[in-house]
Amino acid sequence: MVDESIAPDPDLYSTQHSCYPDDWQSETTSIGSSIYRGLMQNGRRYQTLSNKEYLIPSDDQMFETYEAGHLVGLVLDSHRENPLFRSPIGHKPKHILDIGTGKGNWAIDVADMFPEATVRGVDLFPPPVTWMPPNCVLEVDDILNEWTWREPFDLIHMRIMIGSFDPTEWERVYKTCYDHLRPGGWIEQIEASPFILCDDQSLPLDNVLRSWGPNVSGCGERAGRHLDAIDTMKESIRKAGFVEIHEQPYKWPIGPWARDQKYKEAGTVNYQHWLSGMEGWSMWLLTKFGTPEPWTKDDVHVYVAKLRAELKNPHFHIYQRARRVWARKPMPNEVPGKTVEKEIKVEDD
Ligand SMILES: C[S@@+](CC[C@H](N)C(=O)[O-])C[C@H]1O[C@@H](n2cnc3c(N)ncnc32)[C@H](O)[C@@H]1O
Repeated sequence: MVDESIAPDPDLYSTQHSCYPDDWQSETTSIGSSIYRGLMQNGRRYQTLSNKEYLIPSDDQMFETYEAGHLVGLVLDSHRENPLFRSPIGHKPKHILDIGTGKGNWAIDVADMFPEATVRGVDLFPPPVTWMPPNCVLEVDDILNEWTWREPFDLIHMRIMIGSFDPTEWERVYKTCYDHLRPGGWIEQIEASPFILCDDQSLPLDNVLRSWGPNVSGCGERAGRHLDAIDTMKESIRKAGFVEIHEQPYKWPIGPWARDQKYKEAGTVNYQHWLSGMEGWSMWLLTKFGTPEPWTKDDVHVYVAKLRAELKNPHFHIYQRARRVWARKPMPNEVPGKTVEKEIKVEDD
């Protein structure tokens, strides 16, 4: 893995130009600027660092979506002293890693919270940040490459990595996390489901919003990237050797319909999250793996416009499931198999 820290420069995010004239490029700057330029497809910009296509674009609209998703999580855990994570890593962690950092929101907030720690965020595309705390390092790399970080981490975090890996790659990611945590260090992952649910009769059975989850997850399956990390991560984390596994389920309301003030606020932000996110979440999946045949860009635009119009209906009591799992790497004296595995399910509070 190449340790390629990217100095933030907003100009570099323009798709219109690169910083260097083409005839002046060394091999290195050429690689660097092509990473920033990405690949334009169906009006969206995608990462080019990995040869394997990643299904979600890395562009301004998607970074706005990530910002909104970050806020949904913060609002729902706003009653907690630390709304960013649950792993009990104490007050003096030294090294923290955020895999697939997106816009870097989580890594930046955690770096602010622990000024003595080094917090790294890594992603396939350079996060568009103009300022970050001095103890935060945002790096561009593919997490599937060999890791070159030498310091063992106290905490490795992942959020909304749904669809990023096939099952074998997921296994590798958890195993590599295990190997790179200090004994007693923690892994934490939070994932959301793409299915739009409704516990009462307020969303008609034939409403187009009900088609979204089956549609995108069907595409995910055909693409070999199952969109079910929310339901598989706990078992995968256990299989990788972690103990003391905790989980907390959440309901993320979509829209401001909930009576409770916290859920109303979270639903309002999550509504924006969905409005800005749906096109990007589905464009690659539907244009490559849509049925009965791959959709056109216009098909996707029309579908998303219909979904957006329905999302605006305040009478639909709709939500998506999310789940947080956190678990510990055993100490060397914890003999595998003899450890009494403490498993705790925390109810949505
Ligand atoms: C849905 S986004 C979530 C971003 C961020 N964790 C958040 O919650 O705001 C997933 C991120 O994982 C990154 N990603 C996917 N595959 C990756 C890989 N192999 N190595 C590094 N980052 C990856 C994507 O580029 C994307 O930014």
